[in-house]
Amino acid sequence: MGAAVNDRKVAIVGCGFVGSATAFTLMQSGLFSEMVLVDVDRDRAEGEALDIAHGMPFAAPMNIYAGDYDDAADAAIIIVTAGANQQPGETRLDLVHKNVRIFKSIIPEIAKRDYEGILLVISNPVDILTHVALKLSGMPENRVFGSGTVLDTARFKYILGEHLGVDPRNVHARIIGEHGDSEIAAWSTANVSGIPVNTFCELRGHFEHDESTRRIAEDVKNSAYEIIAKKKATYYGIAMSVKRICEAIVRDEKPILPVSNYQRGVHGLYDVVLSMPAVVGKDGVEYQVPTPLSEDEQARLHASADALRAVFAELDLE
Ligand SMILES: NC(=O)c1ccc[n+]([C@@H]2O[C@H](COP(=O)([O-])OP(=O)(O)OC[C@H]3O[C@@H](n4cnc5c(N)ncnc54)[C@H](O)[C@@H]3O)[C@@H](O)[C@H]2O)c1
Repeated sequence: MGAAVNDRKVAIVGCGFVGSATAFTLMQSGLFSEMVLVDVDRDRAEGEALDIAHGMPFAAPMNIYAGDYDDAADAAIIIVTAGANQQPGETRLDLVHKNVRIFKSIIPEIAKRDYEGILLVISNPVDILTHVALKLSGMPENRVFGSGTVLDTARFKYILGEHLGVDPRNVHARIIGEHGDSEIAAWSTANVSGIPVNTFCELRGHFEHDESTRRIAEDVKNSAYEIIAKKKATYYGIAMSVKRICEAIVRDEKPILPVSNYQRGVHGLYDVVLSMPAVVGKDGVEYQVPTPLSEDEQARLHASADALRAVFAELDLE
């Protein structure tokens, strides 16, 4: 038996751009009363903990400190953001070997402490690394998942909201499959407050559906490349996405989120980790939601799964 989980505690492994932005966002969220920052660069973790703690008088009291895997062992959620990020021109899949090596030094440290909480993977390629974390940890599938296309879905809602002049929270549309180049915009179920997206487009004076859907899906897919080319890394959008997932877990809210999770047969997908909508609550991934897909979306989803399976099959996880 591992240490009993402290529901008000979170750990972040990797305190670079993404880890520190996530820590800053979570500090302001009021979700946790204790936050441990772990990094191979201990000074970095200590510096981030101090800097973020100095904002506490403007938020709510909590204990923020740099620590190690013993300190993380009773966290309700361990968020892993450690690893190399994309350089301009690199795809997420290009990072795989570097980051698998890093995961081999992190995940066993968590597993050997019989960790009982939720392991949330953010490092890229997130689908492959979530699968790696699942295998290396031996933890149950519901407690190991990745942020997947939660961020891409936020980008999709934002861009559609801008296009249609409507609050992105009224846009119900999602990206599924790989968090990467083979991701799929699920247009067939996209709607704005229950109105099919094409109908809403026409109400707003947009009639070029084929051209617009192609352009918007491309913009979503290329968002990270554009941001990386301009400012070297992306971190605020993912930090907000991680906060949303943490809220779902800590408050047992059970939203449907496209997290990256091990597939058990919905739409005929097996033995692959990718993003499909799931109910997320205190037990992690609680239910895989069989949302309808068009034939074309289904075919592209299987192609995305095949691409991920091929990469995973090449890895040496011994
Ligand atoms: N899933 C998403 O939507 C999403 C979005 C943005 C970035 N990312 C990914 O997040 C990861 C981090 O990106 P970043 O911009 O913060 O990179 P970064 O280089 O700024 O930070 C990485 C951090 O990991 C630490 N680290 C390296 N090896 C470690 C180890 N063995 N143990 C503990 N810490 C270790 C480094 O010291 C560094 O502080 C990348 O893989 C990036 O592609 C994912």
